Amino acid sequence: MAIVVDKLEALPPKGDDFCLDVRKDVVNIVNLKNVLSRLRILPNSTGSTARCAAVQFKDSKQQVALKMFKQCDEETGHRFMEEARIAVKVSDHPNVITTSLPLYRSEKEGFIMVIELANGGDLWDYVFQSKPKPEYELRGLSRQMVDGLSHVHGCGYAHMDVKLENFVVFVNADNSKTLKLIDFGLAYGLGRWQDRVEMDCSGAAYYAPERFPLQPPLYSPQEAYFCVQTSFDVWGLGICLVVMFTLQYPWDRADITKDIRYAKFQEWASHFRYGDASRESAPEIFQCFSDAWLDIFVSIFDEIEETRLTMAQLRSAIDRPDSIYD
Ligand SMILES: Nc1ncnc2c1ncn2[C@@H]1O[C@H](COP(=O)(O)OP(=O)(O)O)[C@@H](O)[C@H]1O
Ligand SMILES: [Mg+2]
Repeated sequence: MAIVVDKLEALPPKGDDFCLDVRKDVVNIVNLKNVLSRLRILPNSTGSTARCAAVQFKDSKQQVALKMFKQCDEETGHRFMEEARIAVKVSDHPNVITTSLPLYRSEKEGFIMVIELANGGDLWDYVFQSKPKPEYELRGLSRQMVDGLSHVHGCGYAHMDVKLENFVVFVNADNSKTLKLIDFGLAYGLGRWQDRVEMDCSGAAYYAPERFPLQPPLYSPQEAYFCVQTSFDVWGLGICLVVMFTLQYPWDRADITKDIRYAKFQEWASHFRYGDASRESAPEIFQCFSDAWLDIFVSIFDEIEETRLTMAQLRSAIDRPDSIYD
């Protein structure tokens, strides 16, 4: 059943002054295909709620990406408006994708967000589907990832779904690459509380341990939740860096009770922190890194959020001239 757009409630959480008005900001159109001359569904965009397409408008010939939410029910409408609100709010940065207004809704295609189109696909494809990249290039990409994400943090949100597929690549005229952060579907206000939940999704390898449920017994009801902090995204970025620099995932999920590779890393890191373990005894995937970068990864993958490496520290680490590799 189609939803009545006007019935959506106001979405901004308390204390946030930016909001979208469904009457003003969502335009109803009859059939998307009437206004488009081309529509190509993008590879890797077969998510459960939305799919993305590269399109060209008939009149302006403008090429953009559309993120289309298949369903038209009220719950999808809320999620769409919340994602769009954050996406528009964080749009003003060279390393964050620009999402424009108005938003659209059509009977046939559901809710539609209009986004600038990246001409180089997403970062996962770029890293895995073309030849290995030199360190200086990967370092430049990492810097852009930190900068885009720091902007989102500065706007008061954690992205909560940092992974290679959520950065897109713009190939510039001189063949240099600009990365932009996309997909604010899981973004959440800093300082708010979220449930720790069991999950089996594509992003789980990037999630910090605080997101996974603690083993019972729980000693207080608060242990069922975690506070959303920038440190959650630092962890996700850390996984991105390991994957970019080694072309391997270090573990499937950051849960010592369920993932032996992760448990082994934490066991080794607990000794390395106190100078009791060497690089040679590190899990194999980490052995290619310099001692200085092993320190950095141990600090990124610190299970205690308060002592985890900060975004600013990660930015200065990337700027250091010494090699990431041993
Ligand atoms: N603006 C864009 N330009 C090019 N490709 C994009 C763009 N936005 C999304 N994509 C592609 O579509 C995929 C899914 O988009 P995303 O917004 O992450 O949706 P989901 O919420 O389903 O993960 C991305 O991983 C990327 O491959
Ligand atoms: Mg995504």
